[in-house]
Amino acid sequence: KEIFLKDYKAPDYAFQKVDLIFVLGEDKTLVTSNIRVIPNFSDGAPLILDGERLKLVTLKINGLHVSKDNYKVSARQLHMTSLPTGSFDLEVVVEIEPQNNTFLEGLYKSTGNFCTQCEAEGFRKITYFQDRPDVMSKFTTRIEADKTLYPVLLSNGNLVDEGDLPDGKHYAVWEDPWTKPCYLFALVAGHLVSRDDSFTTMSGRKVALRIWTPPQDFSKTAHAMKSLKLAMKWDEEVFGLEYDLDLFNIVAVPDFNMGAMENKSLNIFNSKLILASPETATDVDYAAIEGVIGHEYFHNWTGNRVTCRDWFQLSLKEGLTVFRDQEFSSDMGSRAVKRIADVVRLRTMQYPQDGGPMAHPVRPHSYIKMDNFYTVTVYRKGAEVVRMYQTLLGKAGFRKGMDLYFQRHDGQAVTCEEFLAAMFDANKVKFPTFPLWYAQAGTPTLTVITSYDADAQTFTIKCKQVVPPTPGQSKKEPMLLPLAVGLLDSHGHDMRLTSVKDGASLHHLTSADGDYTTTAVLHVDKTEQEFTFMNITEKPVPSLLRNFSAPVRLVSDVTNEDLYFLLAHDSDQFNRWEAGQTLSRKLMLDLISAHQRGEKISVDSAFIKGIRSILLDSSLDKDFAARCLTLPAEGEIADLMDVADPDAVHIVRRFVVREVSACLREDLLNTVKLNRSSIAYDPSHEHRARRALKNVALGYLASLNEPETIDVAVNEYKIASNMTDQLAALNAICQNPGNLRSKSLADFYEQWKEEALVMNKWLALQAMSDIPGNVENVRRLLDHPAFDIRNPNKVYSLIGGFCTSAINFHAKDGSGYTFLADVVLQLDKLNPQVASRMVSSFSRWRRFDEERQALAKAQLERITSQNGLSDNVFEIASKSLAS
Ligand code: ARG
Ligand code: ZN
Repeated sequence: KEIFLKDYKAPDYAFQKVDLIFVLGEDKTLVTSNIRVIPNFSDGAPLILDGERLKLVTLKINGLHVSKDNYKVSARQLHMTSLPTGSFDLEVVVEIEPQNNTFLEGLYKSTGNFCTQCEAEGFRKITYFQDRPDVMSKFTTRIEADKTLYPVLLSNGNLVDEGDLPDGKHYAVWEDPWTKPCYLFALVAGHLVSRDDSFTTMSGRKVALRIWTPPQDFSKTAHAMKSLKLAMKWDEEVFGLEYDLDLFNIVAVPDFNMGAMENKSLNIFNSKLILASPETATDVDYAAIEGVIGHEYFHNWTGNRVTCRDWFQLSLKEGLTVFRDQEFSSDMGSRAVKRIADVVRLRTMQYPQDGGPMAHPVRPHSYIKMDNFYTVTVYRKGAEVVRMYQTLLGKAGFRKGMDLYFQRHDGQAVTCEEFLAAMFDANKVKFPTFPLWYAQAGTPTLTVITSYDADAQTFTIKCKQVVPPTPGQSKKEPMLLPLAVGLLDSHGHDMRLTSVKDGASLHHLTSADGDYTTTAVLHVDKTEQEFTFMNITEKPVPSLLRNFSAPVRLVSDVTNEDLYFLLAHDSDQFNRWEAGQTLSRKLMLDLISAHQRGEKISVDSAFIKGIRSILLDSSLDKDFAARCLTLPAEGEIADLMDVADPDAVHIVRRFVVREVSACLREDLLNTVKLNRSSIAYDPSHEHRARRALKNVALGYLASLNEPETIDVAVNEYKIASNMTDQLAALNAICQNPGNLRSKSLADFYEQWKEEALVMNKWLALQAMSDIPGNVENVRRLLDHPAFDIRNPNKVYSLIGGFCTSAINFHAKDGSGYTFLADVVLQLDKLNPQVASRMVSSFSRWRRFDEERQALAKAQLERITSQNGLSDNVFEIASKSLAS
């Protein structure tokens, strides 16, 4: 059943207070809830509670059993009528079987421990409830369980009582003083140990911090703890936001559908986003842990203290919190590199979604299954929308907006309009077309034509904005997008920008401390619009969309010559990188056309020279240099073609990589030598950057598949003292099929087979391989002891990994499509959320040639015709077929 935003109705009843009792058992678990119910209106509406896969045991109102005539139970609801007038106490007892819950939502078991995942609609699998975020209550939770099996009992808030019970059992009672919606409820019971630390907040509250894991993982939580303390400090310094309880718990669980969950004072994390040691986790893992620890912690204000009125508003908390974690990571590391990484993710994952059958606005208009809308659009495009407020209002203005938002809405469940109103009211501005970012799907194209008038000393930028049609939205309006522009003089320096004309009005440009700026933020809000910079004394090279100031596709008349100039000189680091990427995209698209025409292809020397100058520029941050040396991914290039041709893209990208490697062989060998670290492992930015640059060079060298360059990779593999270096070397070696590859994979397996998280990397590396015909290898791995279809991380590594290799997933014989459909159908019975994420790989099927389309379509039809298919998979598969 499809649910629509326009049908929103406030709840008929409020739940003032909820007391829960869990009696945890091996065969069944009893859940008792006592709810103080208060009618919101006086019309005696029925009380409708959500509930799925529950066995109702008793139902009482004010202590008396409810007569059978006054309630009805269906597969999804408990419907109650003839209720008392005024407030009453409702008691519901249900029985559930967490040990058989393979969906991993609600209450379930992971490696013997009990844990929960309630967002979005999992609480209804624990007990009957008004399972919606605008019903906020005070919760107490009593947990009873076997003391030997489950020595640790946790829930939200403060521990107020604990003790022993007969028959080897014990109990704990938790009380959360803050009101919250049920999606923030959490419970954990198990055999766990904690790393303990503390943080004193700016107002002097001493908070106990505990990170819980199975005993053997204790040593791997130091980095997570350090990240947590940094995040707590950062939120105080940047947003003035302080933690609001005396205890903060984090639990790591191996079986988890998503990354992590911000349950009030009891965050639950996928192990892979907590556990790290230099030997088992890469630099990328370390950064991801820091970011997600920050993300979940920041939710305490943006999500928990102020929550969403309904699930359509998800980006209110997710877009904002992603923006906050991005800023946190930028402040902890390199801002430019973080921005580049985030834009790459947006382009390679969100743009395809925005251009495909599942395209939806940052605030969707409808959904069948909410879990399908925890998307890159809601999260990452949503974060870009938040970033645009900051670009338009300035950092100080953005902070004013945040302050007003909390002043107005602390303790409330609100909508995106309320956030927008706080931002604009605090700064006394009105941008009438900005709200459209929440309502219109599709990536806007911004076309820019520039011209210089030497006589008038003006530089003009002509903009054309098009928001493409998307399913259900054929007509679009132009929307306000901030276009950050700098102009470079012939020395490569930023020009002073003093004033700009937008139509008839002249704007003076000022920075905080002067009467000029070097980056102007133009307000593009019409389909066609012209901006003229005044007093421009020489023909400049324009640097457009600095720091990626709006999530658009930019098309401009900037020449290749100008792009090389920007690559060498732009003061905006993001745009320096972007100039290189634009050149690479153009080059590859040209070569693809040539290849498709059957012509011989070659890489021009200017391109090689540009790459070489980055490689040899010792003044650059090495992490930044590593990013500049990384060519756009195959998917990004395929996405720019009228008909995606994965084979041609693959051949051309490989060709360019090899050409660069052949031409710069000595420089690359030197780079590896110079950046090899003698010491064991240093997590500092400088050393991470050295590793990044060395490992990019290693990848290039190994692509040549020459004895000498392969020896370098083998040597790096042997001397590696940490997972970053070891995995990069293994990856380099595995580019080339053959004995060395199999031997290295076997060696790595023997070394790490006891470490589940490292095994995920081993599976992913093989699954993502571009070796032709890899589908057979991946099929075999399904039966390998290192794989387990019930563990989401393993599925994401093996199945998700396979789908990222375009030449194998989109193999011409359809073998990749059949494989994915087989797995999706098997998985759907066990875990629909994970199955649904996997089936999404089909959604771009119309981008390919007719033969491939037919093959993919047949598999999608096979899936949708399956009896008993979950709503999750049905929604994605049927929408993919429909548009
Ligand atoms: N709120 C979590 C986060 O921090 C994600 C929860 C996702 N849950 C789901 N069923 N889709 O992003
Ligand atoms: Zn989140």
